[in-house]
Amino acid sequence: MPELYDLTSRHILITGASSGLGEHAARLFSSRGANLTLAARRVDHLDALARELRTTRQTSRFNATADDLRAHSAQIHVVEMDVCDEESVANGFATSIKSLGVPDVVLNNAGVAHTASALKTDSSDWQRVVDTNLKGVWFVAREAALHMTEAKTKGCIINVASILGMRVAGGVSAYATSKAAVIQLTKSLALEWARHGIRVNALAPGYMETELNREFFATDAGKELIKRVPQRRLGNLSELDGPMLLLASDASSFMTGSVIVVDGGHLVSSL
Ligand SMILES: NC(=O)c1ccc[n+]([C@@H]2O[C@H](COP(=O)([O-])OP(=O)(O)OC[C@H]3O[C@@H](n4cnc5c(N)ncnc54)[C@H](OP(=O)(O)O)[C@@H]3O)[C@@H](O)[C@H]2O)c1
Repeated sequence: MPELYDLTSRHILITGASSGLGEHAARLFSSRGANLTLAARRVDHLDALARELRTTRQTSRFNATADDLRAHSAQIHVVEMDVCDEESVANGFATSIKSLGVPDVVLNNAGVAHTASALKTDSSDWQRVVDTNLKGVWFVAREAALHMTEAKTKGCIINVASILGMRVAGGVSAYATSKAAVIQLTKSLALEWARHGIRVNALAPGYMETELNREFFATDAGKELIKRVPQRRLGNLSELDGPMLLLASDASSFMTGSVIVVDGGHLVSSL
């Protein structure tokens, strides 16, 4: 069974790897022996993470089996990438490919949130959210697919959406709209790229505690929100591990255009 989820020597490019979910995914995929490209704007965070991952791999070499040694020879590469900037995305992929080859898997995770009522959301806030969460996801997916098709790599792309792409809450109109669009984009790309052997799926997490929302969940409104989650708690990032390993590996070989919800039952909360 573990071979089904094997990622040894797969090249996985992660956007938004400098914190939260992306950083967590980097540790997860690294522990499974994948070669990684860590992408984001804060290169100092990526460098620190890359150092940590290399050290962890070296340290865990003692008493290693032959399989472990093979996994630990994997490489970690850092690229500066602003997903809102088409040229930056193209350059990031180009340097990543020079070092590690065309990615087999892209975790299209970079995203930003904005909390304000629709009446108080100005056009620059709207633009920043939609540019990052939607146009950025499209830039990255398209760049990945261009390289995968050219190299005939039967790769897969995992777009990080949100349960706010499926239901709404007050004060997040730009964010919810961008994530709903990511879900529809995922399905469109899955349809178009299946003929190239490229799978495109989405992960729709519920509320997980990260930098993006830590302050909010400490407020009274945040605490009230947690009470509306059927499991009455926030998710731990480790609870995304199973779905991420499924989507990144051959275990999901017949899945494309799917959206996996991981939310403690939030989407089925009582109306
Ligand atoms: N946390 C949750 O509860 C939750 C729930 C559902 C969905 N999500 C989604 O999960 C994803 C990750 O969020 P998170 O919670 O881990 O938040 P986070 O800790 O704030 O991480 C966001 C990441 O996105 C990167 N990023 C933002 N703008 C970027 C840009 N223009 N170019 C490149 N990278 C950029 C940031 O890196 P730099 O600043 O270094 O560029 C950072 O690494 C997002 O798509 C978010 O919408 C989160």
